Amino acid sequence: MADQGSAQVLVASNRGPVAYTAASDGSLTARRGGGGLVSGLSAIGPDAGALWVCAALGDADREAARRAGPRLDPEETGGQAVRMLDIPPGIFADAYGGISNSVLWFVHHLLYQTPIEPVFDADFIRQWGAYETYNVAFADALAQEADDGAAVLVQDYHLDLVPALLRERRPDLRIGHFSHTPWAPPDYYRMLPDATAAAVLRGVLGSDRAAFLTRRWADAFTACCADVLGAEVRDGSGEAGSGEPSIVYQGRTTRIGVHGLGADADFLRERAHRADVTERMAELREQVGEDRRTIVRVDRTELSKNIVRGLHAFRQLLTDRPEWRERVVHIALAYPSRQDLAVYRDYTATVARVAEEINADFGTPGWTPVILHVKDDFARSLAAYRLGDVALVNPVRDGMNLVAKEVPVVSDAGCALVLSREAGAAAELSGDALTINPYDVSQTARALHEALTMPPADRAARTTRLATAATALPPAAWFLAQLNALRPAA
Ligand code: F6P
Repeated sequence: MADQGSAQVLVASNRGPVAYTAASDGSLTARRGGGGLVSGLSAIGPDAGALWVCAALGDADREAARRAGPRLDPEETGGQAVRMLDIPPGIFADAYGGISNSVLWFVHHLLYQTPIEPVFDADFIRQWGAYETYNVAFADALAQEADDGAAVLVQDYHLDLVPALLRERRPDLRIGHFSHTPWAPPDYYRMLPDATAAAVLRGVLGSDRAAFLTRRWADAFTACCADVLGAEVRDGSGEAGSGEPSIVYQGRTTRIGVHGLGADADFLRERAHRADVTERMAELREQVGEDRRTIVRVDRTELSKNIVRGLHAFRQLLTDRPEWRERVVHIALAYPSRQDLAVYRDYTATVARVAEEINADFGTPGWTPVILHVKDDFARSLAAYRLGDVALVNPVRDGMNLVAKEVPVVSDAGCALVLSREAGAAAELSGDALTINPYDVSQTARALHEALTMPPADRAARTTRLATAATALPPAAWFLAQLNALRPAA
């Protein structure tokens, strides 16, 4: 281990804390990376001394990674130590767009339904090879950077093979894996080619501890290990040590943990009261018009988020309850995501079309029923959180869904939450949210009506309780919980 690195704590994820854009003169500008995982992990802060290993996601990132050498300039990363891997574009496209986002994402979110059906053919085999190469690149970098006995926290479905690959290279390390998505139940998971299904599970089982956002996803993973690998499952009750369930496979034990990532109240409340958010609130109020109620939603435009059924539910509300016409506006902030994939581009186009159809069918000269914004704008998201009367969070399946947790924290006057029972957040929030079956458009429309007519005092009281539940495990504590759970038993 002569060339072993010096980091005691390492984090690995596809998306890193910064993303670069290039100007025409070739200069590069760093900005904060997007998404729930980055929000959670960013709370680590540079003082924790962790090294964050991530992938270069585009040409500007690649250029920054090349110019930087192994580590990015700390001035550009807010002091965080970051190693950005320069993965060849073809490998990255197949590993990220192909296996991660078109196969594993679809399996775990149960998104394969006609006409989107899985086809595991020669393209899949090429993409799988790229996914392996991509995972090897991470394992090599982590093996090189980690100090003796260091803790490595590997994040998400992009890097499912890393724990086992890293263990082969560095058996001295303590390795954790955290899944930010749901996990598919065995009958659905078995849709994957047999060798792939087994390789993914074996990869994650290379960790000392595999953790999930809810018990439901942890149980699904455990069930897949038993079903696909024939692994032994122990419930933890008879064990000395952590008492956590564990999986025994080929002589090794992997503990199974749960940490429900919560919202970062301090950050959100401070950020939500800056001038740019107040400006966006004024703009939105102007668009909504006087004395109207608002139903807000904020998502990446992603098939699992179920935006189209949400729009259909709004249409049904206006149809079944004409008294709401002219009196309510649906603010839908649907930011582009994974636009390199045709299925996402098509979905984005459908969202825009359905919103236009509702406006054409119901709108009047003074009232636009759906206000759709597609430009990613965090200040506008916070503005919507603050002013919304109702928040609609209706994913068909979601690891957690931080929007459901952020709205109650930021809301000015209380916001009723209509929440899919299939979001991980429902495990913690269902007591005070109006829970729905995300496929049931009629039920969703009824829940929207109930939310709009909820007495203000009830709405405010529920919002306060939701905010408490939503912040039970803020990001910094969530990260520390993962790290502490990896420490060897005393
Ligand atoms: O849900 C998993 C996840 O990694 C989130 O943490 C994150 O918000 C989202 O997927 C981002 O996806 P992508 O990096 O493909 O934009």
